[in-house]
Amino acid sequence: METVRLGYVGCGFVAQTIHIPNLSALPNARLEAIAEVRPKLRGLVAAKYGIKKQYDAHKQLCEDKEIDAVGVSAPFETQAEIACDLLRAGKHVFMEKPMAVSVVQGEKMLAAAKQGKARLMVAYMKRYDSGNELVKKAVDEFRRTGELGPVTFIRTHGFCGQQWTAGNSASIFSTDEKPPAGPGGSNLPDWLPTKNADGYLNYLQQYTHNLNLMRWLMDAGDVKVRAVDFDAENGYQGVAILEVGGVRAVIESGSMSHWGWDEHTQVYFRDGWVRTEAPPLLLKNVAASAEIYKAGKTQQITQALPADPNERWSWSYQREAAHFVAQVRSGAPFRSSGEDTLFDVRAFETIYRAYLGIK
Ligand SMILES: NC(=O)c1ccc[n+]([C@@H]2O[C@H](COP(=O)([O-])OP(=O)(O)OC[C@H]3O[C@@H](n4cnc5c(N)ncnc54)[C@H](O)[C@@H]3O)[C@@H](O)[C@H]2O)c1
Repeated sequence: METVRLGYVGCGFVAQTIHIPNLSALPNARLEAIAEVRPKLRGLVAAKYGIKKQYDAHKQLCEDKEIDAVGVSAPFETQAEIACDLLRAGKHVFMEKPMAVSVVQGEKMLAAAKQGKARLMVAYMKRYDSGNELVKKAVDEFRRTGELGPVTFIRTHGFCGQQWTAGNSASIFSTDEKPPAGPGGSNLPDWLPTKNADGYLNYLQQYTHNLNLMRWLMDAGDVKVRAVDFDAENGYQGVAILEVGGVRAVIESGSMSHWGWDEHTQVYFRDGWVRTEAPPLLLKNVAASAEIYKAGKTQQITQALPADPNERWSWSYQREAAHFVAQVRSGAPFRSSGEDTLFDVRAFETIYRAYLGIK
């Protein structure tokens, strides 16, 4: 495939601040169509990016034979249903996280992909951050050589903050049009009490990033859950103790009125650590900082930097979009495929069941 002909569903916040600008700027791809149920918003975005075809809703985009692949960002439960329809229609899909709000919904999506002979990539930008790529390389190398001894513990911490946009949201269009109603919770896990749905979704949508990163660093699939303790008033502030790749791992989750972004992930070895500190998410062209500490006689702390300055000053979301187009063109597997992401969806159901004491 020379040029990937792209469509996009949804012209909301994430589409305008991240994916439509990034996908439109890629070589080897052309953003040719958008689907958005709000006509004024759709028109404004289409005009800004010179997008030829406009559709009222994603179902029409499914029928467009001149489109190979489609990006999607919409409310959690809705975007999974949109992705299902696109996959079934044979479009490769690049979608925002979380992949699905339940294992049942996730499995339905993978079945749709099989039916349509199409592939699903979930946009976990942390796996494409050039700083995190160095962290992954270092963890792989230390695990292979044993230089720092075995991995003893993993921590991912995210108290987040109020400035995740880093000022990068000022110039987007908004209109007075009402967004459409979604499926109304019909895809949530059947064991989840309605009163806990908000807590579950808040936890899932944020910390899926952290678990997905830990699993990648450890080449891990299924995750065990050892214990969970959250605040009852919001249902997500607290600690989950897991086992990732056979190692004890914690997710520290919470929120604070921080004027920045408070998030790091650290892999401890017996004789050192590898640590990544995340930038505010929408801060462009700044990678995560990657620190390597070696204990023992030398006691050395280094900041790992990419050799290429274009990778040093790069934006993870741009790199994930480029990865999607490159893998669609070549047929090579995605680094964050739907099949892999289903492990996260399953883990979050297990974590939340453990929190609520539901067997
Ligand atoms: N990766 C990240 O860092 C990150 C950050 C924030 C949000 N997100 C994810 O982005 C998603 C939310 O995106 P958003 O904030 O842009 O949402 P949004 O609500 O602002 O926009 C969604 C748009 O989709 C449109 N829409 C809904 N159903 C449609 C349909 N069937 N056909 C066509 N258009 C339809 C709506 O009218 C709306 O304009 C969430 O899933 C969230 O998890 C990811």
